[in-house]
Formats: sequence, C-alpha cells, structure tokens
Amino acid sequence: MNSLTDKIILIVGLGLIGGSIARGIKRSDDSLRVGAVDTDEQQLCKALSDGSINEFGELDVLCPQADLIVIALPPLATAEILPRIAELCSPQAVVTDVASVKSSVIAAVNELEADFIARFVPGHPIAGSEKSGYGASSENLFDQRNIIVTPQADTAAEAIGLVHEMWRVLGADILGMSVKRHDEVLAATSHLPHLLAFAIVNALLKQEQSEDIFRYAAGGFADFSRLASSDAQMWADIFVSNADPAASVLDDYIDSLMALREALKKQDHTTLFNSFSQARNVRNNFMAKYFKPMNQEETEQDKAISFAVEPGGQVQGDIRVPGDKSISHRAIIIGAIANGVTRVHGFLEGDDALNTLAAFREMGVTIVGPESGELIIYGVGKNGLKAPRKPLYMGNSGTAMRLMCGLLAAQPFDSELIGDESLSTRPMNRIAEPLREMGAVIETTAEGTPPLCIHGQSLNGIEYKMPIASAQVKSCLLLAGLYGQGETRVHEPGPCRDHTERMLAGFAYPISSGIQEGLTVLEGGHELTATDIEIPADISSSAFFLVAAAITPGAHLLLRHVGTNPTRIGIVNLLRLMGADIQFSNESNIGTEPVVDITVKYAPLHGIEIPAEQIPLAIDEFPVLFIAAACASGDTVLHGAEELRVKESDRIDAMATGLATLGIETETFADGIRITGGSIGGGEVDSRADHRIAMAFTVAALRAESPILIKNCANVATSFPGFVELASSVGIQLQVAK
Ligand code: S3P
Repeated sequence: MNSLTDKIILIVGLGLIGGSIARGIKRSDDSLRVGAVDTDEQQLCKALSDGSINEFGELDVLCPQADLIVIALPPLATAEILPRIAELCSPQAVVTDVASVKSSVIAAVNELEADFIARFVPGHPIAGSEKSGYGASSENLFDQRNIIVTPQADTAAEAIGLVHEMWRVLGADILGMSVKRHDEVLAATSHLPHLLAFAIVNALLKQEQSEDIFRYAAGGFADFSRLASSDAQMWADIFVSNADPAASVLDDYIDSLMALREALKKQDHTTLFNSFSQARNVRNNFMAKYFKPMNQEETEQDKAISFAVEPGGQVQGDIRVPGDKSISHRAIIIGAIANGVTRVHGFLEGDDALNTLAAFREMGVTIVGPESGELIIYGVGKNGLKAPRKPLYMGNSGTAMRLMCGLLAAQPFDSELIGDESLSTRPMNRIAEPLREMGAVIETTAEGTPPLCIHGQSLNGIEYKMPIASAQVKSCLLLAGLYGQGETRVHEPGPCRDHTERMLAGFAYPISSGIQEGLTVLEGGHELTATDIEIPADISSSAFFLVAAAITPGAHLLLRHVGTNPTRIGIVNLLRLMGADIQFSNESNIGTEPVVDITVKYAPLHGIEIPAEQIPLAIDEFPVLFIAAACASGDTVLHGAEELRVKESDRIDAMATGLATLGIETETFADGIRITGGSIGGGEVDSRADHRIAMAFTVAALRAESPILIKNCANVATSFPGFVELASSVGIQLQVAK
C-alpha cells in the first residue's frame, strides 16, 4: 500500500510520457484507477483495451473526480490548459506536469489562486525520446531515470509527497532544482542538442548528395541526427518557452564553432587536435563519474588519480574552505525527518554528503539542490520515510553509515546499507551491539563489517556507556533514541563532537546535553520542527591549510568562517602547543555553532607529547598534524589513538610508511606513533585511497627537497571538492596526474 492507493489519477495528454505514466502506474498496482483525456480517440481506445487506463472522457467530467492530475503536454499547451484545470479540479486535488521548461509553466500557475499554486508541483521526467505518441509508450520508461521537481516556496508538503510517490512507483529517481537552474541546465543538456540535430539535417538537405547522406547514413550521421526525428510541435513549443537560456547556450556554441571554422580554414591540426582531445577527456570523465551504476567498483581510471606536487612554494591568501562534512550529513538526516521545510546554506557538495542526500531522496524525501551550497529539504516528519527500493550506498563515509543505521533501525521497514571498498572493511559492531540492546535487528558480515541489513523494529531507550569517545556511536544511538520508548542516555568517556545534540536542539527537540558531564539524554517520541541551518567552513578541511601555513617560512593565510565548535578544535590547540602562530578574529555564532576567521603565520614548531584529552578533538586531523610533527624540532609522541587504525585507512601505518619514504624517522605503536622532525625528501607515497592521507602529503611538499607523487587520490572528492584549485591558489604547486 502506498499513498496512491484509493486515489483517482487523471492523465491529461496520453502521448509518450502520459501513456508511459499510465502504464507504469498499472504495472505497480493494477487496481489503481487511471483516467485519461486526449484529442486522439483512437489512442484512448487502444489504451483502454491495453488496460493501461480505466476510462477516458471529457476534461469537464473527469477532472472534478480526480485526486492527482498529471498534465502531460508540451510547455505552451500546459500553460494554456492550467486555468481550466484549476477551475474544474476538486479543492484537494494535487496537480503536476511534465513539461521540459519550467519557468513558463510557473508563470502561468502563479496567475492562479494561491490555493491552487500550493497544490501544483512542477515536474519534469528526463526520459523523453525522439519517438512520440501513445504507441511509443512503455511501462518501463521511467525506471532509474531522473525526474526533476521544481517546487516553489509555497508548494504544500503533502502535494510534493504525493507526486514524489507517483514517480517512485514508476521506478524513477527524484531530484529537486530551482526553476532557473532547471531551465538553464535543460537548455544546455537537452534543448541545444535537439536544435543542432534539426539544424544539421536541414543544412545537409541543401547539399546535392542529400539522398546519399540518408541512404548511406551510418554511425555519425545516424547518431547525431536521431533527435531530429522528435516531435516538431513539441520542440517549437519548448524553444519558444525557454528562448533566453537556449539562446545563451547557442551563443556559446556558435563561438566554439567559429573557432573550429577558423582552425579548419587554416588546416591547423594542433588546434583541432587540442580541441577534440579536451572534449573527449571531459566527456569520458563525466561519463565515468555519472553513468556508472551505484556501488560499482571504482574504475581503474578513478583510482589512477595522483597528485604530483613540486617541492617548496608559498602559502599566502584569504580563503574559505567548503562546508563542514559532519554537519552537512546531520543537516540532511535531521531535516529529512523534521516537520516542515529546512533551508541549508553552506552545504558540502562532496561525494560523502551527496550519497547521504541521495539516500533520503530514495526514501521519499524531496530535496532541492544543492545549488551553490544551498539545499531545501521538504521534511516528511519522523514517520514519513518510505522503504528504499534498493540498498543505500554510503560511499566512503563511516559517519553516514553509522548515523543512518541508528535511524533506520527504528523504521517500520527493512533496509540495507552498503559502502565502498574502504567502508566495507570498517567495524560496525560498535553500533550494532548497543542498537541490538535497544531491540534492533541488524545483520553484519561475520567480521562485523558492512553490508548492514536492518530489519526495522520499534525500539526501547538505552543507558549506554561508550567504551570509546565516538561521536558516530553517540549520534547513532541518539537518532535511534528519537524513536525509542523512554529515555536514551549516552555516557562518553571523553568529549567528542556534539553537532547532533546541537542540531537536535536547533530543531526544537528536547535534549539535555552536557559535554563536561559526559552525558547526553533524550526521550523518544517528540517531534522535530524544521529550521534554517548555516554550515560553517569545515575545520577538518581548514586543517590542511593551517598546517601548510604553520610549516612554510613567510606564510600568511586567512581562513574565513571556520567552525570552531570546542569539540573540534584539537588541531588548533595542538599546533599552538607546538609553537604555531594562530590568531582568531570575528568570533560569532551561526545557528548553534561557533565560527571564527583564523589567521596563521609561519613560526618554528617543536615536538610535543600529545595530551590524551585532545585526541577526540583532533581525531581526523592527525595525518596532517604528523606532517607538522615531521617539520618540527624534536619528537612528537602520540599514544591512546588506536582509533586511527580503523579510519578510512589505517592512518598510523599509512602515514608512517609515507613518512619513511620521505626520509622521516618514525616509530609506531599499536595506539600511536613517535615522529622525529627532520628534513623531508621526495618520492612516491600511497594515500591508500584515504582522502586525508592524500591531502596531508600534499602539504608536506611545501617543505620537501624534491617532488612528491601521491598515488590514489580520487577520494579527496569525498570531503574536499575543489581542494586542488584552492591549494594551488595559495601557492602549493600541485598537478593532478593520471
Ligand atoms: C565523525 C566522528 C568521528 C570522525 C569522523 C566524523 C562524525 O568519528 O572521525 O570523521 O561526524 O560524527 P568517530 O566518532 O568514530 O570517532
């Protein structure tokens, strides 16, 4: 049973898209009632005899009875019919469309009554084809295809939820975008190629041998001109509706054609070759990135990304690193299960957080963005998530997998969490065991690693003394505790990051959190109220630049708007202990988190014994702190950090091995390392596909005597998109090598 059960669905326009929607709805549940309106009675009769609709008739008759109305017409026709539908439909009916231009449809909707605007959910399936008409329709047309919805500020959550559900049962993945972004993106990705296909066929028609062009059409011409078989009426409609964005990409295209024409006339092989190679590389990279099935092993090409860093360089500038990863994950998770709309600014568009976002979309949550770090999350409430249709892929992220497991353990459905090669080796018993004490049913591998098969249950609260200071374990139990009967009380042996507690309080959830006392308590059964969240720049990403400036003579760097939650500033405390010159300014609070601007200048560093209480506060920053230690005078000694052995890689071993290659003396312990400062040589180090190891060795090159080649760097994108560009902008001499 889904929320479409008992609803009467009306399709207005039974062409390729409308017909496929009708067939797909019937595929999901033959008892759902689907009606259709179209001008072509023959097709309607065909659909009726196929069983893809239950009835057809006049709009005046069918529209008032329908609960969900899908306008499956081209954009101009959609805009034209909207007032009629608004007039005829019941005051509860939800209305959606499929037009491939949204601004013209929205403009027409916004002329109508506010009540109708709130019930209209603009949508666009990216599933068209050059074929048209009901005859070309298929029940599978939308399987694994993207649907873009572009809700407005006033669109009602229930209306969005119903339309989301319809596309879910059709097998589609539902994305959200702003109207402007949608029309620009579509102008470039769909409209321009159609225009070019029409144009090339027309241009070749003028040639004398046009007959031969078609007769012998193979590969190139057939591929390129396929789109010219598309419906002319619809495409004229689309271009009129999206004239400005389409004209703007066409201008760019004309510029690039003119450059090629110039090169052709000059028979300039080099320019042609460079232009074609660039296009080929760009296309291949994007195809590898976006057209690989979920959970597919990284390709050899992905793994082959290396960083080649020249020795020396400077560190100067005024920068802001991307948004905090821990807070980005939590903003999606908590926003998704809140009541109402949560707006997020400063969201990290890294692979890890994007996987979390995709997981919630899969569970029926509509999320618009990210667009320039902004997200709009249409919360479904604590009990509004839908059973995922496939395993949820958590990529490289232990945080996502552990937090999600707590949330999913309490849902009334089963789910499976999977991850990449590194995540698939990481320990999950630390969460599975206390969750089982709460009543959860979770299966891991015999080694206690992912995949996690979760059989959702109702849970009880728990009183739990964590054996390790882990924010992931604490957050997992708190999220499960939101659903638990009674209180959940989590004791921590030392302070670890408290973003979950702060954010729950920000969503008006009653929680008592005492970092000093080491006890967090919440009671299950309360609700979360949506709020706006501003995410500070990630101190963990800033750490690479803090160390870069701290070790480079002459360096002077300003890092803006960095989150300085006291549970995260171990790196600053430790660098200061080593003698670093780090100043805070512009201290303020954004939402529930403190932020500052940080100025770092070079100062000579000396080795230290790392105080045990700083370890959880700097847990992710040790790889780069070890680089600072390698540049410091004397020894730096770390004990009590066995957790580093089970991060994205065994970070003690990975760093010790790499440092040894660079000529730095180290001694490793089960729970730590001794690093003796010295001069850094060059050579080839393996990051072991660990993003933080890769970035740490990049920073080391600033003090190296010869180049450092760092292998296996593709995962830098998990936490720090734009690292290469930002590092280069401050003076690190870094090239990406294949
Ligand atoms: C995180 C907690 C830490 C940290 C991880 C992010 C979080 O892990 O290493 O990168 O967002 O809760 P542990 O809680 O396992 O120490």
